[in-house]
Amino acid sequence: MDFSGKKIIVGVTGGIAAYKSAEIVRSFKKRGAEVRVLMTANGAKFITPLTMETLSENEVITEMFPEKRMVGIRHISLADWADLILVAPATANFIAKVRAGLADDILSTVVISFTRKVVFAPAMNVHMYENSIVQDNIRELSEFGYEFIEPGVGDLACGDLGKGRMAEPEEIVERVWKTLNPRQDLKGKKVVVTASRTEEPIDAVRFLSNPSTGKMGFSMAAEALSRGAKVTLISGPTDLSPPSGVSFVRVKTTNEMFEASRKAFKSADILVMAAAPSDFAPKVVRKDKIKKTEEGLQLTLRPTVDILKELGKAKGKRILVGFAVETDNEVANAKKKLKSKNLDLIVLNNPLRAGAGFGTDTNIATLIDRGGKVEKLSKMKKGELAGRIFDHLMTIGRKGKRRPETQP
Ligand SMILES: Cc1cc2nc3c(=O)[nH]c(=O)nc-3n(C[C@H](O)[C@H](O)[C@H](O)COP(=O)(O)O)c2cc1C
Repeated sequence: MDFSGKKIIVGVTGGIAAYKSAEIVRSFKKRGAEVRVLMTANGAKFITPLTMETLSENEVITEMFPEKRMVGIRHISLADWADLILVAPATANFIAKVRAGLADDILSTVVISFTRKVVFAPAMNVHMYENSIVQDNIRELSEFGYEFIEPGVGDLACGDLGKGRMAEPEEIVERVWKTLNPRQDLKGKKVVVTASRTEEPIDAVRFLSNPSTGKMGFSMAAEALSRGAKVTLISGPTDLSPPSGVSFVRVKTTNEMFEASRKAFKSADILVMAAAPSDFAPKVVRKDKIKKTEEGLQLTLRPTVDILKELGKAKGKRILVGFAVETDNEVANAKKKLKSKNLDLIVLNNPLRAGAGFGTDTNIATLIDRGGKVEKLSKMKKGELAGRIFDHLMTIGRKGKRRPETQP
């Protein structure tokens, strides 16, 4: 990562993770960037401006109205100067201020005056982070084009355990680099991604499903979008917000997912089937709620439509990526699936391994392509894995014979 010639403003707000921003500034400097640090008054209580001044080799700005009068309008010249603003850590308070359009200190005023990319690395207690108001602010700002680096799960400084720990400096620096140097190798391509689970109703209140949250599919959609593709994201039930800029289709059952995929398929170049649709559905769906009985209940299930197989049969020149969850004979089973479903690439993972599978932020995957190349990857965040999957996909290109195109 070469940051030579890049000008970055690092905004530091009042959270414990402020100590990590010193490492971030150091890393930017080491890689050739020019860095200006702006701190909120509370940010300056957590780490001294002197530390940041020494690391950035630039004066640190904490005041909107400095005692020593300066010529010119400082917040405007700073906003004109920078290529990117990184706010790390970003407090709940600061995120709320930006969403409200407030400009009551130097950092918020520069952020509001800025016309290029602003990246937030939120850091806070899990209850703060999960608060609907905070989540709503993040969602709204994402829709306006602000970028967020998801915090990690772990021990928090307050003693709680959960989501809210600021992403590690290395990951933040990498994300900023990607934002400053967007790869556009999917420009002009139409990518369709399916994500999350499907739910098959049993009666008026119950359903059959699985624990897939949609994280992997949403990461794939975000990656494709950042690489210049036009993206349609078809998702079953999920708590995640779609990345801004994707065309979002919400579905519930496997059949609805199939219909939506079939429709999007027509104009697609690449299809990434990252969803975990339910393979079975109750044969009979009761309109009322089935009464609880002493003798229990027997359900007869029917197979649902095999989305991957149907799309595989008709894919023509399109590139089709599938996911395989295997717990035994992993590589052999995945290879079999790759062939039987006419895939170009299969992403194999075993949810029984620590740090892999449903609901986790990370995954451990093996990529197997139709040319027989097997790439074993180590444990990594789903966002990073999404990048590696598209990297691998780009190496496959248009080699090999493909079946003629039909309609699924
Ligand atoms: C010891 C301590 C740690 C704090 N850590 C955080 C934090 O990690 N994230 C957060 O959003 N607020 C945290 N706060 C609360 C913020 O400092 C507070 O909301 C403040 O108003 C933020 O100001 P700023 O956004 O202008 O920097 C902490 C407060 C204290 C006293």
